[in-house]
Formats: sequence, structure tokens, C-alpha cells
Amino acid sequence: MNAKEPAMKTNSFSNARITHALTSASPVTALVLGLLAAVAQNAPKTEGEAWTIPARAARKQNPIPTDENSLAQGKELFVAGCLPCHGPAGKGDGPVAGTLERNGVPVRPGDLSNAKLWEQTDGTLFWKISEGKSPMPSFQEAFSEEQRWQIVNFVRTLAPHERDKNQKAKFGDKQ
Ligand code: HEC
Repeated sequence: MNAKEPAMKTNSFSNARITHALTSASPVTALVLGLLAAVAQNAPKTEGEAWTIPARAARKQNPIPTDENSLAQGKELFVAGCLPCHGPAGKGDGPVAGTLERNGVPVRPGDLSNAKLWEQTDGTLFWKISEGKSPMPSFQEAFSEEQRWQIVNFVRTLAPHERDKNQKAKFGDKQ
């Protein structure tokens, strides 16, 4: 018993010291964390960083029906504007894919033939195409809104999906 008491005293003493140290450090810590967050926000986007889509943009409805006309138009625009990087089937293996970099670091185009593409809304795809993300250019100026929706419709046919099976069977021979 006697042997334990001094030990306990030491413990509570050092706990108090630590608590005090943390309390007095926290405003500084908070300031440093705040500064770091501000710096991170202003830093150019790096590879692997999530591509954050405004909620309103993600909810935007696609006004262009997925029909023969929009898919044909979308395919033509894709071949002209996207194939160089994303490749003919959207696998990210276009002729210039190997030359892309961001801040000097090599970066690959996204794989548009991955079924995960269906987890993204039309509005999200539309926003990504419109805004771009270096080295992917923004297509807001190059393509009209209607054209960008047509591209969204076509890009959907590159990734396997239940809802898409009929479209693929119907348009597969034309791709
Ligand atoms: C100069 C090369 C380049 C061109 C041209 C280009 N992209 Fe991209 N694209 C990229 C790169 C690089 C990424 C990966 C960006 C990231 O997330 O870091 C990407 C990402 C994407 C994504 C996101 C993929 C995902 O998994 O979320 C979509 C969708 C996309 N591109 C569609 C298109 C479409 C449609 C076009 C044509 C209108 C196009 N891109 C043209 C390089 C390009």
C-alpha cells in the first residue's frame, strides 16, 4: 500500500501536467490546423484527390433522351474530344494518355468502361465534362450543353450495366 501511494501521486501529477499542456496548446494547434486546411484548399489538385461535385450539379437532370440520335452525336463528339486521352472504348488508353501529367506527376485518364461509372449521376458526369480537371480540359466552351449531354449518354454505353444491355446490343455494332 505504502509503495503504491507515491506512484499514484506521481501519476495524477503528470496527468494534470499533460492536461494543462494540452489545454494551453490547443488554441495554437487549432490555428496551425486551420492554416494547413487553408493551404490545402488553395493548393492545386493532386492525383488521387477526390473530384468534389457540388450537390446541385450532381442532381441536375439530363434533358436529352438516350436515343439513336443522341448516341450517334455523342459518339462523334467523344471520338473528336475524348478519345485522344480516354481511348476508343474509354479504357484510358488513348494515343496521348501516356503523356499526361499534373504538376509534373504522370496521371492517367479515368477508366470510363468501369461499371463503377454507373454510381455517378448524369449530372455528375456532365459537370466533370463541363469543368474538366487538369490535365483534362473544360469542355464548357468547346461543346454546347446539348452536346455535353449527348456525350454523357454515349459515355454510359462504354460501361457495362443492366439497364444498358439493350442499348449495347442495339448500338454495339455501330461502335
Ligand atoms: C487531355 C486528356 C483528356 C481529355 C481530352 C479528356 N479527358 Fe477525361 N480525364 C482525363 C484525366 C487525366 C482524368 C482523370 C482526372 C482525375 O480524376 O485525376 C479524366 C477523368 C474523366 C472522367 C472522370 C472519371 C471518373 O472515374 O470519375 C470523366 C467522366 C471524363 N474524364 C470524361 C471525359 C470526356 C467525356 C471527355 C471528352 C468530352 C474527356 N474526358 C476528355 C483526361 C482527359
